[in-house]
Amino acid sequence: MTATGLAPVWASPLALFQIMKASLHDLQTAFKQFQLAYTAARIGLPDALAQGARTSDDLADTLAIPANRLNRLLRAMVWAGYLELHPDAAYALTDSGRELISSTPNSPVGGLIFQGRFFYQAWGGLFDYIKNGKIPYETAHGVRIFDQLVDDPDLANAFNGGFAARTAEYSAEIARLPVFANARRLVDIGGGDGRLLLDILAELPAARGVVFDLPILQTDAAKAIAASPAGDRCTFAAGDLFQSIPDAADLYLLKWVVHDWEDERAVRLLRNVAARLQDGAKLILIERLMPDALADMMPLVQPDMNMLCLNGGGERTRAEYAALLHAAGLKLTAIEPIENPYGFVVMIAEAPR
Ligand SMILES: C[S@@+](CC[C@H](N)C(=O)[O-])C[C@H]1O[C@@H](n2cnc3c(N)ncnc32)[C@H](O)[C@@H]1O
Repeated sequence: MTATGLAPVWASPLALFQIMKASLHDLQTAFKQFQLAYTAARIGLPDALAQGARTSDDLADTLAIPANRLNRLLRAMVWAGYLELHPDAAYALTDSGRELISSTPNSPVGGLIFQGRFFYQAWGGLFDYIKNGKIPYETAHGVRIFDQLVDDPDLANAFNGGFAARTAEYSAEIARLPVFANARRLVDIGGGDGRLLLDILAELPAARGVVFDLPILQTDAAKAIAASPAGDRCTFAAGDLFQSIPDAADLYLLKWVVHDWEDERAVRLLRNVAARLQDGAKLILIERLMPDALADMMPLVQPDMNMLCLNGGGERTRAEYAALLHAAGLKLTAIEPIENPYGFVVMIAEAPR
């Protein structure tokens, strides 16, 4: 039930069908409006109009885009309702267009650009996945996402920045979890720029930690480590979690990493962790759990499809995580809640005794 006491619309297949029926015609133009808003936001057009109307030549100068190409976009933005043309031949933002100014509070621009860069084309490969099982992002780009990030620092920055900002919202909550209390040496596998591990280390003055991630994260991690009061107890190790991960920790952390991967690779990476777990060492998985009943799944279905399209991964049920861990020679021993707006939980796994 929602806060209004009404069942959510997805609980009723008939209601959902009626909404879809009403909007199927709109869908044929919605993706074009998305591309217009995304393209305009990414070149900075709405920001260039934030102070008032400007002519196309003036905009072309500011944005360093040839006028003939910019004009095509400007008139399409009028068609989409984001711009209007004044009698003095100057373009101005409409009310919907003003939402595309990046500095407005709660601006959707960051999300729009993230969706446009990472998910838009990937979702276009869904048909091939359903028909042939091919990973949509790879179909769309000819390469898997993490292999592409290695060669494109700008894309890697945009990608990692998005995840790091989300994790930073509740990393202090994670850091206070009792499961970390006795840890002395921690390794955060796929730990990004290390901010979660640094928050955990700040709570544990006697502990040391290693952030383990792809080499492209090295510069960001060096900055985060230098800026943290716990930085002198934290190092960055570059590597590939499908090859080998650092050893000798009593606590390994995998946050928001396993969901990136299809079952076969997920088991492969968990086996690499299992090979490192010494007596009594623990693996902490932090992920969202897909509920078992269809009606309860709905809030996670879109994130699940995003992961599917991005990298063949997905959100899993508790039983599915238990099965993955089992296949890697580990045992899921506990699940604990964390205070966070996204539904992440902590799963604790150990080598069976
Ligand atoms: C979704 S992000 C999660 C980052 C961080 N743990 C968090 O929760 O904010 C997945 C992370 O896995 C890392 N990763 C992907 N493939 C990897 C590989 N082969 N070896 C090491 N790290 C990898 C990425 O660079 C990225 O930092």
